[in-house]
Amino acid sequence: MSTLIRGGRIVTAADDYVADVFVDDERITLIGEHLDVQADRVIDAAGKYVLPGCIDPHTHLDMPFGGTVTIDDVESGQISAAFGGTTCHVDFIIQPQGATFAQAFDEWRAKANGKQVIDMGYHMAITDLKNGGTLEELASLPEQGVTSYKLFMAYKGALMVDDETLYRAMEVAAKSGALVMVHAENGDVVDLLVREALAAGHTEPLYHALTRPPEAEGEATNRAIQLAHLAGAPLYVVHVTCREAVEPIARAREAGWDVWGETCTQYFFCSLDDIAKPNFEGAKYVYSPPVRDASNHDYLWNAVRTDALSAISTDHCAFLWDGQKTLGKDDFSKIPNGGPGLEDRLKMIHHFGVNEGRITLNRMVELLATNPAKLFGLYPRKGTVAVGSDADLVIFDPKRQVTISASTHHSKADYSLYEGTVVTGAPDVVLLRGNVLVENDELVASPGIGQFVKRARFGEELAPARAAVA
Ligand code: URP
Ligand code: ZN
Ligand code: ZN
Repeated sequence: MSTLIRGGRIVTAADDYVADVFVDDERITLIGEHLDVQADRVIDAAGKYVLPGCIDPHTHLDMPFGGTVTIDDVESGQISAAFGGTTCHVDFIIQPQGATFAQAFDEWRAKANGKQVIDMGYHMAITDLKNGGTLEELASLPEQGVTSYKLFMAYKGALMVDDETLYRAMEVAAKSGALVMVHAENGDVVDLLVREALAAGHTEPLYHALTRPPEAEGEATNRAIQLAHLAGAPLYVVHVTCREAVEPIARAREAGWDVWGETCTQYFFCSLDDIAKPNFEGAKYVYSPPVRDASNHDYLWNAVRTDALSAISTDHCAFLWDGQKTLGKDDFSKIPNGGPGLEDRLKMIHHFGVNEGRITLNRMVELLATNPAKLFGLYPRKGTVAVGSDADLVIFDPKRQVTISASTHHSKADYSLYEGTVVTGAPDVVLLRGNVLVENDELVASPGIGQFVKRARFGEELAPARAAVA
């Protein structure tokens, strides 16, 4: 099956030009002006952008968490992603306490079996290096294409690891070629502040934010950076929310250390005003690290513009407000942490970032596709529009106006963090390896089309799937 995408404006992290793209056998095989080729299918992209499929490096699908399980499984989460122009994501395997990494991997692959609509890889979230996963087994994960280890410095009594475990994982990563990822909040201090707030009778959602202050994020971020430097491991700090955490990342990067930071769509838009909403509506905005004072919004835009932060993910971890978030109706610490957003990232960042002049179109592509691909061993197979790359493409209409709403999104979440927001610019056609996934607002491919991608080790490139250009 071959496809010719005619006359679109091709935008990568570096380029911006009008040309035709010819796709054959799942890959881009030719790019040029007015290509004289026969194709099984022609898509007219005049007036549209041709973007690389976006890559979300941070999602949680079908994940047990906070006494329940995320509402989006692999199928609903990936359908939602596809509608939003995301064609590949890296999800978190959470090592069950006492399980080996192989057991955890098999469990997570079984959750995806037959359900995949887009391509995916996995990070391994390490919870236990004493009973179950060994350092040797951890070191072998990159051979299976799992080339990043995640550690939680928060969620005491659940996912949190101590500094010894964190450091040991970093030592392994320094040798195995994995990228270390951290959820950076001081879990001991947060746990104490939560107990103090509850003892003082504060049960409402707002206290989720007030008991997880920016200093707790800044301290843990700096600790992780220093430990990674000592261990000689590359570090990626997930979901950075505030100045206190950006500053140590920026300092490390200026010093030339292998440190990167990510923020998420919601941290540009949601604030303490949202989590303070009455009648338990604030619970919709309970995720960690929490919403911050709105003064951080501009600070984060500046950080992604200047490359202090290098990627934007969604941290999609969706729960129903009615039935799941309500587990914490009388105690904010029992509200499952997480929010939806897989479908909204490209539209929100394009409208408020590019249309409103905060970042360039090239930088948007870099933050949503190219940098995640490079950092997580998917580049150049994914993350750009180039001969030899997978034909994961978004034909994006920069003039199309849409209203973001839970009534039209494809996640099973019963609310949207951006309900009623009107944006200009939305995906028209989304292709995965040359196969049309979404067209005319319909899903036209069936679950099962997505594949597991074995990612390359940190700093290495992922070659095209088959012998590339002859
Ligand atoms: O609240 C959040 N972010 N939930 C998902 C788990 C995590 O910390 O990334
Ligand atoms: Zn986290
Ligand atoms: Zn997360």
